[in-house]
Amino acid sequence: MNGAIFYASKYGSTAEYANWVSEATGLPVFNTKDHNADPAKYDFLIIGSPVIYYKLLIQKWVKRNLSVLEGKPIVFFSVSGAPAGPKLSDWITNSLPKSFISKMYHVALRGRQIPKELTLFDRLMLIIAGMKNPDPVAKKEEMEGFDYMDKSSIAPIIKLVEQFKLNKVST
Ligand SMILES: Cc1cc2nc3c(=O)[nH]c(=O)nc-3n(C[C@H](O)[C@H](O)[C@H](O)COP(=O)(O)O)c2cc1C
Repeated sequence: MNGAIFYASKYGSTAEYANWVSEATGLPVFNTKDHNADPAKYDFLIIGSPVIYYKLLIQKWVKRNLSVLEGKPIVFFSVSGAPAGPKLSDWITNSLPKSFISKMYHVALRGRQIPKELTLFDRLMLIIAGMKNPDPVAKKEEMEGFDYMDKSSIAPIIKLVEQFKLNKVST
């Protein structure tokens, strides 16, 4: 079984995770903006996306490629400020088709947000969101940024890739 990694990224942290997975597994890695990259060529896929404004950045690409993606084993990794939990699950449910969610293996990773690297628009929107957020931890993260990047958190993805390569998982 041969596989590949496809990702979307706005500020680079999802790209960094995708490249770490590529280094650890030897799988090729593609940005979904690269229109020559074709998921149909692979038996299994690792798909990564950040959550930006409560939605997955990759949602349109998944919908566009749904017929190709269905039927393949898929590990989907999300990258977000929020940890795994009901908020993240709701954003995923609202972004991706049910048929896709029900088949994918989901790994939740936490990313990075450095205020001075953001566009002015994003910085202002996050300050406004932070001012309105009743959760003190999320409020601080939105207003001051955070860095939860952790290479070791890709371990469950690597384990699944090893099983996919041996054809030991069901779709
Ligand atoms: C404009 C913007 C909106 C964001 N919205 C959310 C959000 O709704 N929920 C969340 O948990 N994290 C949110 N984040 C945090 C991102 O998911 C996190 O910074 C991620 O690492 C970004 O990935 P990227 O560097 O690949 O673009 C947001 C970050 C930015 C910059």
